[in-house]
Amino acid sequence: MSLSFEGKVVLVTGAGGGLGREYALAFAAKGASVVVNDLGVDTAGGGKSSAAADKVVEEIRAKGGKAVANYDSVEDGEKLIQSALDAFGRIDIVVNNAGILRDRSFPRTSDLDWDLIHRIHLRGSFLVTRAAWNHMKKQKFGRIIMTASAAGIYGNFGQANYSSAKLGILGLANTLAIEGIKHNIHCNTIAPVAGSRLTETVMPPDLVASLKPEHVAPLVLWLCHEQCQENGGLFEVGAGWIGKLRWERTRGQVVRQKNKPMTPEAVRDNWDKICDFANATKPANIAESLESILSALSQVESGEAGANPTAGLGSAASGSGANPAAAAGQTLSTTSFTYDHLQCILYALGVGMSTKDPDHLKFLYEGHPDFSCLPTFGVIPSFSAIMGGQILQIPGMDINLAQVLHGEQYLELFRPLPTSGTLTSVSTVADVLDKGSGAVILCDVKTYNGEELVCFNQFSVFVVGAGGFGGKRSSEQAKAPAPPPKRAPDAVVIESTTRDQAALYRLSGDWNPLHIDPSFAAMAGFKTPILHGLCSFGFAARHVLKQFADNDPSRFKAIKVRFAKPVIPGQSLQTEMWKEGNRIHIQCKVKETGDVVLTGAYVDLHGSTKASPESLPQEGGLSSDLVFAEIGRRIKDVGSELVKKVNAVFGWEITKNGKTAAQWTIDLKNGSGSLIKGPHGGKVDVTFAVSDEDFMEVVTGKLQPQKAFFAGKLKVKGNIMLSQKLEVILKDYAKL
Ligand code: NAI
Repeated sequence: MSLSFEGKVVLVTGAGGGLGREYALAFAAKGASVVVNDLGVDTAGGGKSSAAADKVVEEIRAKGGKAVANYDSVEDGEKLIQSALDAFGRIDIVVNNAGILRDRSFPRTSDLDWDLIHRIHLRGSFLVTRAAWNHMKKQKFGRIIMTASAAGIYGNFGQANYSSAKLGILGLANTLAIEGIKHNIHCNTIAPVAGSRLTETVMPPDLVASLKPEHVAPLVLWLCHEQCQENGGLFEVGAGWIGKLRWERTRGQVVRQKNKPMTPEAVRDNWDKICDFANATKPANIAESLESILSALSQVESGEAGANPTAGLGSAASGSGANPAAAAGQTLSTTSFTYDHLQCILYALGVGMSTKDPDHLKFLYEGHPDFSCLPTFGVIPSFSAIMGGQILQIPGMDINLAQVLHGEQYLELFRPLPTSGTLTSVSTVADVLDKGSGAVILCDVKTYNGEELVCFNQFSVFVVGAGGFGGKRSSEQAKAPAPPPKRAPDAVVIESTTRDQAALYRLSGDWNPLHIDPSFAAMAGFKTPILHGLCSFGFAARHVLKQFADNDPSRFKAIKVRFAKPVIPGQSLQTEMWKEGNRIHIQCKVKETGDVVLTGAYVDLHGSTKASPESLPQEGGLSSDLVFAEIGRRIKDVGSELVKKVNAVFGWEITKNGKTAAQWTIDLKNGSGSLIKGPHGGKVDVTFAVSDEDFMEVVTGKLQPQKAFFAGKLKVKGNIMLSQKLEVILKDYAKL
């Protein structure tokens, strides 16, 4: 379908000749109402005439188009826009095109040469565009073209005044693109080449004749069409060819060491590295630009940078002798983490738990009979194990922090986290993958309580620019994300984070100033400090825990997320959940913006012991049978650990309607433990008698064993002290 500008009002400055005239004719031919502006000056800005603009208006009208003339200088920006409003009632598109030349070699450039060029090109573009801005903003549509020049981009002999003004225009456009985007105002820049009176002095006549303005105009029209979403682009265009430009930057080099002055000698000695465009990056915005600066700061502070500034920290792939593939399987560190109820509660508050929800109290009050630690607290001991700098010391790799992005996280729990103690984390490099543009390092962290494995974390860290070493692209070790089913979610929870969410979350051990210090965040290109990805992760996990597992931490098996975008403290998180068996797929969005922040995410739960109608035992069957069957499976898996921990034999008498209906023995004393249906042949340390119903109440956490005992619902014979260990068996192992 052909592109129409029907109903749109376009102002083209300097449209009395050359490129501007061509734009005006082309817009009019596509249905636009055009304001043809031209001061009618000579190429150096001298003289004044209405003839040039009038002639183009006549041409347009002769073809049946709509146009009016305006003879003001672009320095009277308001008057140009007023002409559009007077004639057509609105302004949709501004093409800043008017221009003159006053070429001189640099020492001969007079103040007037400098000022005139800057006034017409740069200041004129500013004044005309500013006059149009609020009209565009109100109507939520605007398209702006700025005209730069190859002389500005690359420099050109005799054009110091012109090239500086032209690159100034690009800077103006870059910022307008950022300020305009939320109002649907797009601003793009072109550096055209065409035969015109401006170029006839510098180009041979046949070239002037063959480089036609009509080979530039179609790009301007496309960039100004409402269908075009391009914004902030820079294009070279001429002879029917169009190319887009962007910035490229070397990986650079930190040449400073902590507590030592930075020296020109260190700059000299690292010069090749500073200027080496191998694996160059292409920063697209100020945030990406500042990443390297910020990472240099943290490298210097952590002592990572400049240990040998002359040798330098190369990229992982290019460092001499670097062998990323050899890093796989290497142990990184063993760290210990001591905590008590304080850290558990602080973490729960950090991920948004509140006493306004009565069922959150067990995570917020250490005196609560079911006081528990949130399952996702499991990332905290391993976070310090990985982010304490170990990632930078991976043997066989030479990583610069600027390259590192936390891409994905997997956490699996083997038992509920204790609410206090000392945990030991052992981190290893599970694998290093070659993704071309970068390397993915899979860091596995196993966290132990004594000898008991408590949880497993896998950090998936993307190292930009470290790929291309000929390694494999995927790994069996990787815990892969999983997309949600293609149907509406089964449940959605929307919860607002607070203004101080990041300020609170960081107290759990992530001290990166990006999450608290406005000036640091600004340097990184954010308007305000951003929330920790692992904080959103904590929110999403507990939404699942509440929605699908009754806030029961023992039902939480594993979680996987991919971090897609940042969240600003105070924004609302929208967790969408899909239940597929025991897997709950999740997707987390910022409600206000619709940005998806966690993707490919899921939580795996252990099955529920709740007697659902289909799981109710057949006539005569007992609900407790299911629980004992599960206890038997767990004993098979981890029996020897349980034997060490419990060291006792438990007998059970399950009653139904006042009669003994089943007998069980849980032997956690001998060998690697066993479950026996029926009485035990040997010594039983303690025997419990309880009804099938009350047993289920205890197992599902509705009835505390102590209360059941005092209410006479649970009868105990033998070593009554051992009933304390019941909790270990029932709470941690009986929940299906
Ligand atoms: P041109 O000289 O044919 O057209 C420029 C027009 O602007 C003239 O009609 C002139 O009267 C008008 N003008 C000058 N000062 C004005 C003012 N203060 N207010 C209103 N109108 C004014 O030149 P051409 O080649 O069509 O250039 C158009 C734009 O493209 C200029 O900004 C120029 O710097 C730029 N450009 C052109 C290149 C080319 O190869 N033609 C190369 C790179 C940039």
